[in-house]
Amino acid sequence: MSNYHIKHLEEYYKVYRKSVREPENFWEEIAEEHFVWRKRWNKVLSWDFKTPEVKWYEGAQLNITENCIDRHLFTKGNKTAILFEPNDPSEEAEHISYRQLYERVNQFANVLKAKGIGKGDRVCIYLPMIPELAISVLACARIGAIHSVVFAGFSATALSTRINDSDCKMVITSDGSFRGAKTIDLKGIVDEALEDCASVESVLVAKRIQSDVSMKEGRDQWLQPLLDDASKECAPEIMDSEDPLFILYTSGSTGMPKGMVHTTGGYMVYTAYTFKNVFNYKQDDIYWCTADIGWITGHSYIVYGPLANGATTVMFEGVPSHPDYGRFWEVVEKHKVTQFYTAPTAIRALAKEKLEYVDRYDLSSLKVLGSVGEPINEEAWHWYNDNVGKKQSPIVDTWWQTETGGIMLSPIPYVTPTIPTYATLPLPGIQPALMDENGNEIDGKQVDGRLCIKFPWPSMARTIWGNHQRYKETYFSAFEDMYFTGDGALRDTVGYYRITGRVDDVIIVSGHNLGTAPIEDVINEHPAVAESAIVGFPHDVKGNALYGYVTLKETGEGRMHDNLRKEINQIITEHIGPIAKLDKIQFTSGLPKTRSGKIMRRILRKIASNDTSNLGDTSTLLNPEVVQEIMENVK
Ligand code: PRX
Repeated sequence: MSNYHIKHLEEYYKVYRKSVREPENFWEEIAEEHFVWRKRWNKVLSWDFKTPEVKWYEGAQLNITENCIDRHLFTKGNKTAILFEPNDPSEEAEHISYRQLYERVNQFANVLKAKGIGKGDRVCIYLPMIPELAISVLACARIGAIHSVVFAGFSATALSTRINDSDCKMVITSDGSFRGAKTIDLKGIVDEALEDCASVESVLVAKRIQSDVSMKEGRDQWLQPLLDDASKECAPEIMDSEDPLFILYTSGSTGMPKGMVHTTGGYMVYTAYTFKNVFNYKQDDIYWCTADIGWITGHSYIVYGPLANGATTVMFEGVPSHPDYGRFWEVVEKHKVTQFYTAPTAIRALAKEKLEYVDRYDLSSLKVLGSVGEPINEEAWHWYNDNVGKKQSPIVDTWWQTETGGIMLSPIPYVTPTIPTYATLPLPGIQPALMDENGNEIDGKQVDGRLCIKFPWPSMARTIWGNHQRYKETYFSAFEDMYFTGDGALRDTVGYYRITGRVDDVIIVSGHNLGTAPIEDVINEHPAVAESAIVGFPHDVKGNALYGYVTLKETGEGRMHDNLRKEINQIITEHIGPIAKLDKIQFTSGLPKTRSGKIMRRILRKIASNDTSNLGDTSTLLNPEVVQEIMENVK
C-alpha cells in the first residue's frame, strides 16, 4: 500500500491507525519508497522520553540536498524550483530551475569549503528573503555544515547572542534589505553584533541594496566574485541520519533563546510527507508560503519540504502592504499560485482594508489556503474563506512549532471537513494527548487540557544546542513520558482539536513567539526601572499585543513618563528587535505579588484585557492596594 498521499477520509483513518499501531513499519515504508539513501538504516526508531533521546533511521546515510535537488535533475532539470518575487513589483521575478539551483548551491558550497567551513561547523545566516538565503541554507546542508538562520529583523544584540550560543564560525549577510518602502542596513547590524563574537572568522556579504558598507579587512568579503570563480560541482557530504542539519532559535519563557537542534533523516521524511498531504501538492502546482525563512515555517515549508517533492516554491521578499494592500493577491494572480500559506495576523491586517484590493485580482488558480503560527479567529477565517478562497479552497489550519519541525495537527484538504478555528485532526504518526494539571491523561471527547504528544515523530527537535538538561526540563518534565507543547487545547465530540493558546509565559504577537522574561530583563536594565511584568492582551490585528507594568525606582510625573515609555521601547528594539515593543506601558507603584514573592500575572493579564469583573482567587495576594491602584490608572 502506498501511504504517501491520502485522498479520502476513510483512507486517512486507515493510514492513521496504521501509523499508531505499527509506527516503525509506517515510517519505514515512506522512507524507503520516496527518498534517496546512500545507506539503509539499521533501526527505524529508538527512543526514551525520560533521557530524553530519540533516533530515527539510525545508521542510515544520506544528504538532504541530493533529495531536494540532484534527484530531480533528470526529470525536472528545467522546472522552476525557486520563484523569487522581489519587494518592488516592477523588478522582474527570477525563476531558478532545478538545474540552476544545483549549480548555484554547489558553487556556494565550494565557497564555504574554501573559507574553511566543514562538516559540523556552525554558520549563521542573517539574510533577507533573497535567493541567496535559500541557496546558502542548502549549501551548508550540501557540505554538512549546520546552519543557524537568524531572522533579519532581529537586533545586533539578539544576533550576537545567537552567534555566540552556537559558536558560529561564519556569518552570511547582505549589504542591506528592502522591506516595503524602507531599506535596512543589515551589514551595519552584523558589524555591531560581531564586536562581541570571537568565534566568527569570516563574513560573506551578498549585494542587494547596493549601499556603501564598510568591509573589515581579513574578515569580510563580497560573495558574488567568490561564487563566480567557484566550480558548479560539489560532491555532497554523506551524513548520518542523526547528524544535525540545523539550529533554529526560539524564545523561551526564561533567559536565553533555545537553539533547537534538528537532525537530517527524520526531518527530511516528515517535512516532505506533510508537505505533500497538507497542501495536496501536485506536479505543476505553484506553491507559496509567505513566511520568512528565518522562522521554522520557512525552513520546512519554503525550502526543504517543497524541494524534496520537486515543487516550485515562491520566495517573496516584500510585505503585504507595499505598494498597496493588494500585493499578495497581485502575486497570486501573476504567478497563478495554487497553494497559499500565511499567518492569521496578515489575514487580519488585510481584512481591515477595502475588499477592492482582493477583488481586483483573479485568484481562480488557488486550490488550498493555509494558516499557521497562532490561532485563527472565526472572523478572519471567514474573511479568508469567502474573499480569498471564494468558498472553493479548503483552509488548512496547521498547528505546529519550531520544536516539532513539521505540521502536527491539520486538516488534509479535500479530505478532512473543516471547522473554523479548529486545527482538526492529528497527521499520521502524531499521537496527541490532553493532560490535566495533576498529570493524568484526559480521555474522551469535549474536554480540554494541556496538549502533549505521547510518541516520537521523525522531525522532532532532538535537543537544545549545548543544553540538553534545559531540553529535558522544558519539554519532558511537566508530564511523565510525554512531550509537552506549552499549549492548551480542547478536543470536541468528533475528536477535532482546537488550540486555545499558550499556557506558559510565552506570548504570540503577530505570529512571533515572545518570552516575557527576556523582555522584562531588558526593561529592568533601564536605570530608572525597579521592576517590570509583561503580559499579553487581545489585539485585533496582532492577535496579542504586549502590556508592560513598570515600577520605577523613583516616581516622576507627566512628560518624563512619556520619555521613559519611548526609552523603554528603544532598549527593547535594540536588545531584541522591534517585534517585542510594548503597545502599552503603565507605571505602577508596585506589582501584585503572592506571599512568596511571585508576581501574580493572572491578575495583570485580566486588567490588561479589561476583564476585571472577576479577578479569581486573590487569597494569596500580598498587596491588594496595588491591584486597586493599577485598576484605577489603567492605560
Ligand atoms: O502556540 C502555538 C502557536 O505557535 C506556537 C509555536 O510557535 P513557533 O515555534 O514560532 O512556530 C510557529 C510556526 C509553526 C505554538 O506553540 N501556533 C502555531 N500554529 C498554530 C498555533 N496556535 C494555534 N493554531 C495554529 N494553527
